[in-house]
Amino acid sequence: MKILITGCAGFIGHSVSKSFIGKKNSVVGIDNLNNYYSTKLKQDRLKDIDKEKRLKKSFFKFYRCELKNFQKTRSIFKKYKFDIVIHLAAQAGVRYSLENPRKYLESNVISFFNILELCKIFKVKHLIYASTSSVYGDNILPFSEKTNSDKPLQFYSATKKSNEVMSYAYSNLYKFKTTGLRFFTVYGPWGRPDMAYYKFTNLIKKNKTIPIHNNGKHKRDLTYISDIIQAINKIVKNKKSYIQRGNKVNSKIFNIGNSKTVKLIDIVNFLEKSLKMKAKKKFVNKQPGEMLDTLSNSKKLRNNFRLKFNTPFNKGMRSFFDWYMHYHK
Ligand SMILES: NC(=O)c1ccc[n+]([C@@H]2O[C@H](COP(=O)([O-])OP(=O)(O)OC[C@H]3O[C@@H](n4cnc5c(N)ncnc54)[C@H](O)[C@@H]3O)[C@@H](O)[C@H]2O)c1
Repeated sequence: MKILITGCAGFIGHSVSKSFIGKKNSVVGIDNLNNYYSTKLKQDRLKDIDKEKRLKKSFFKFYRCELKNFQKTRSIFKKYKFDIVIHLAAQAGVRYSLENPRKYLESNVISFFNILELCKIFKVKHLIYASTSSVYGDNILPFSEKTNSDKPLQFYSATKKSNEVMSYAYSNLYKFKTTGLRFFTVYGPWGRPDMAYYKFTNLIKKNKTIPIHNNGKHKRDLTYISDIIQAINKIVKNKKSYIQRGNKVNSKIFNIGNSKTVKLIDIVNFLEKSLKMKAKKKFVNKQPGEMLDTLSNSKKLRNNFRLKFNTPFNKGMRSFFDWYMHYHK
C-alpha cells in the first residue's frame, strides 16, 4: 500500500510511521517541523524513523511541507497517488489554543480542508484522521461516541469537531471512506514535552515548581502509545467497505482510550518515586477551557476490530520514564 502519514515528526506520527515501514508498504511522511515544542526532538524522531527504514530496507520518504500550502501538498499527492492517508498533523494542545487560535485555524481547519480536497481529487480510498476526546467537553463519564460532542470548551476542540463534520460531508459527496479517531490523552516514549507527564518530569528533575491544575483532582484516561499504534494498524488493514453501497455514508468515529482513569497527582507520585525526588507543588484552580475528567467507553472500537487495550499506567509510565532518562542523559 502507498500510505501518507502527516505529522510524521510528531509524537504519534513518529510511532505510526515506524509501524508501517516494511510490510511491503511505501510510506511517505509530511511535517512542517514547527517550533511549538523542541524541533530537535522532532528531528531526532525523523532520524529514528530513518534507522527503521534502513533496518527494514524499506521505502520511506520525508517531505518538509506546510499543509496549508495547497499547491505544494498537491504535488506530493500527485507524485504518489496514495491508497491511504493517516492525517495526524495538527496544532495540538488545549492551553495554547487560548493564546494563539489562528494557528489552529490554519493547521486544523484550512490544512484539513486541503487534505479532504486532495483525497477527493486523487481518489484516496481511506482517510484516517486524529480527533480528540476533548470534543466531549464537560459531559457525564464515560464518554461514548453517542455522547453529545457539540459543546467544545475551547477552540482546539472546536476545530477537531469541525474535522469530523467536514469528513462526513466529503464521504457523503465523494464516496471515500473516512475514519475519525478520538484519542484520549496519549503518552509514552518520544512523547510531547507540553503534556503534563513530560512537563512534570522535566520540572521535578530540575527541582522547579510544578503547577498542579484543579488542585490535582483532574482525572484523565491515559492511553499508551503502543495501544494506539495497534489500533491504527488494525483499522488500516480492514479494507472492507472502501466503496459505499446504496446511500450509506462511510464516515465513522471511534473513541481510542484505555477506559481507566489516572489522577493527575498519581503521575506526580510515580515521578517522585522514580526520580527519588520530592516535587515542589503549586496547587492551582482549574484553568479556562480545561475539562474536568475524561474516561472513554471504547467498546465500539474494541468490538469492531477485536482489540484489547490493556497497557497499565505503571507499565506505560515506566517505558516513558526509561526512554526519558536515556534520551535526556
Ligand atoms: N497526544 C495526545 O494525547 C492527543 C490527544 C488527542 C488528539 N491528538 C491529536 O493527534 C494528532 C497527533 O498528536 P501528537 O501528540 O503526535 O502531536 P504533535 O504536535 O507531536 O504532532 C503533530 C505534528 O504535526 C506537525 N504539524 C502541525 N501543523 C502542521 C501543518 N500545518 N503542516 C504540516 N505539519 C504540521 C507538527 O510539526 C508536529 O510534528 C494531532 O492531530 C492531535 O491533535 C493527540
